Order: sequence, then C-alpha cells, then structure tokens
Amino acid sequence: MKIKHLIIAAIAVVVMTGCCSQPKDYGWIKTGLDRAAAQLLWTAEEIADTNKIPRSIWAGYDAELLERQLEKDFETFKDSLRKKAAPELLGKRRLAGVYDWTSGFFPGSLWYAYELTGGEALKEAAVKFTNLLYPVSHYTQTHDLGFMINCSYGNAHRLAPCDTIPEVLVRTADNLCSRFNKEIGCIRSWDFGAWNFPVIIDNMMNLDLLFSASKITGNPYYAQVAVIHANTTMANHFREDMTSYHVVSYNPDGTVEVKQTYQGKADDSAWARGQAWGVYGYTAAYRETGDHRYLDHAVKIADMIMSRVQTEDAIPYWDYNAPAHVDTPRDASAAAVTACGLLELSTLVKSGKKYFDYAEKILMSLSSDAYLAAEGTNEGFVLMHSTGSLPHGSEVDVPLNYADYYYLEGLQRYMALEGVVYADL
Ligand code: GLY
Repeated sequence: MKIKHLIIAAIAVVVMTGCCSQPKDYGWIKTGLDRAAAQLLWTAEEIADTNKIPRSIWAGYDAELLERQLEKDFETFKDSLRKKAAPELLGKRRLAGVYDWTSGFFPGSLWYAYELTGGEALKEAAVKFTNLLYPVSHYTQTHDLGFMINCSYGNAHRLAPCDTIPEVLVRTADNLCSRFNKEIGCIRSWDFGAWNFPVIIDNMMNLDLLFSASKITGNPYYAQVAVIHANTTMANHFREDMTSYHVVSYNPDGTVEVKQTYQGKADDSAWARGQAWGVYGYTAAYRETGDHRYLDHAVKIADMIMSRVQTEDAIPYWDYNAPAHVDTPRDASAAAVTACGLLELSTLVKSGKKYFDYAEKILMSLSSDAYLAAEGTNEGFVLMHSTGSLPHGSEVDVPLNYADYYYLEGLQRYMALEGVVYADL
C-alpha cells in the first residue's frame, strides 16, 4: 500500500510541475544570434580588403551633454577632448589597426557566432581576422595584449586548435609578463601619460592569457604573475563600498602614487565598465586558482553592482555617479561584461540564482530592439548604445566591438548553463 501511495504522489508531482511551470521562451536568443551572425558576416565582407578591424561608428560630441554629465564647466575639460571626427566620417564605420586595444574583439565575435550557430562562413572569417593579428604577438607596448590575443587566438585555440596557436599565446604572455614589475607587484597598463606606473582595473581582464600560458607550458610563472597582480589590485583599487578606482599609479617602491579616473566621471566615481571588469576579473581569478578571497571579492562587487545600477532594464548609465536624465548615455558594453561575470559567478556560489537572474535580465534587454540593431543597420555592429570614454568626448552612445564580443560570450555562457542549442531554437 505504502509503495502504491508513493507512486501516486510522485506522478501527481510530475503532472503538477508539468502543467504549472511554463517552458522558457528562448526566442530572444535566436533573434540575437541570427542578427549577430548576419551583421558580422556583412561587416567581414565589407572590410575584407582593409587589413583592419571594425571598432565603432564615428561620432562627434555634444559639449552641453558632456558638461551636464561631468557636472563641470566645458573650459575645465576641453583640453582633454579627442579631436572631433571630420564631418564626412560622422556616422560611418570606424576601423582600427591591429595594434588597437580592441583588435581581438571582432575575430572573437566571429568565433563565438560560429560556435553558437555552426555557420562555416563565420569560421572562415574568424580564421582570417585572427591571422591578421599575428604581429601583435611580437608587440610589448600595452597591457591590452590579453584582450587582443586571448579573444582572437585564445578562442581559435578552443574551437579550432592547431599547432601554431600555442606559440602565439605563449609569446604574447611572455610579452605581457615583460611589463610586470615585481617591486610593485603589477603589470604596467599604459605607456602614455604622466603617471609613474599606471595600472587600470581593466588589466584584470588580461590575466586569463597568463593562466592559459601556464597550462600550455606547464610553467607556473605566468599564473604566479597573474596572482600577484590580482592581489595588488585587490589591495589598492577598491574602496570600502566595493566600487573601484579606474587608475592606480605606483611609485617605484610599490607605494601608491595616485588614485584617479581616466574614463569615469570623477576620481571617486564608479565608472560602469570598470566595475564590470572587476566582477569578471575576480570571478575568473577564482576559477583559475580556487582562492576563496577572489570569490568573496567577486561576490561583493556583484552585490554592489546590483544595488547601484538604477536603470529599469539593468543596462547601466556610463558611470554609476552620472546624473540620471533621459539623455544620460548608457553603456551596453559594461552590461554585457557584467552579464558574463555574473553567469560564471552564479555557478560558483550557493546563492547563484540571483546572479543568474540578473545576467538573464541584462541579456534579454540587450536582445531587445532597444539595443540590438536591425539587420543591415548600425554599420554592421550588433549592439547599439555603448560609451567608450565620455570625458574625452570619444565614442559616446555608439556601438563598440567589445560590447558585441561580450554579448556573444554572455549568450554562450547562458546557453551552456540552460542547455540550449541553436538548432533547437
Ligand atoms: N580598456 C579600455 C576600456 O574599457 O575602455
């Protein structure tokens, strides 16, 4: 009798669950992937003979908007503004050379779109634009080598491994390590400016390349450099409320020279993309090391982000301290990076569902018509409404190739967690 009752109860649970929970509608993923694939292929065809990569759309700036956003008089920041684009360029695709910090994102987007849809033309284009970046593996003059080579060759290594790729990754990692200073305990970010030894929070994103190089070579040195950099950054970049400074510059003895912003509203503000780099970077550092201090740090950054972003659709304003108006520029790139970080974090902690749900909300917002460009528009970029560097009047409310890259990476992480495959959509 007892067994019979148990079976009846189990059947009742199955029937009730089946009839009450709605299957999720993933139509928005298909929309996002189809549009992304079409836009990327169109772009690849249009720029086929340029030896360049698409970075953004040329835009000017509205001086009054900048004044309102920075809450400063134009005279006080006019010398920092980038030169305005020539009128005939406005609205046109902005291309960049392979030494631009964003050069890895277009090939990387092609790799993700290929991985997620299986389109062979995407793979062909991914190989072609990845190969364009080969000279970057001999370059030493920026910390952005991780972005450039890991997003391009790193994805190639994952999806279409071949004998020549590990050498590129390791050489680039060596060059990135050549920028490491052991007294300071950090990799130097930039070679321009008046700082003694500037390190930006973005630099956390370059550490994945070093962890990869240790795995490829079996040499722990690369990972050790990454760990020391992450520790020094954890000690000096973060404020009590878990927001981070954009730039921390160090004296030769490792003491802090100055803490500032470069792309944010103010030295003590929370620049949206910087917060996103932080949560992504420390989640990845935990994945690679198992060091719980990184996980705790990532959790605290994630909670801060979720409490500070005030927009309905979870796509943040360009700086959390920017005055909120209808015309305050958003930063879709910060949202996409945040979604990637939170999706990974959701798998690593017990209270992961809230991070998953927030990332899902971001990805659904980015896949809506408010951010996802219609096919054949937006100069071939996938997303609209990102902000590069508002204090420089540069790339305000435009598409950015890294917004597209992290949007696709976010979809890849989301689909893997949900067990969704393109063929079933
Ligand atoms: N790494 C530069 C930026 O986030 O704009």
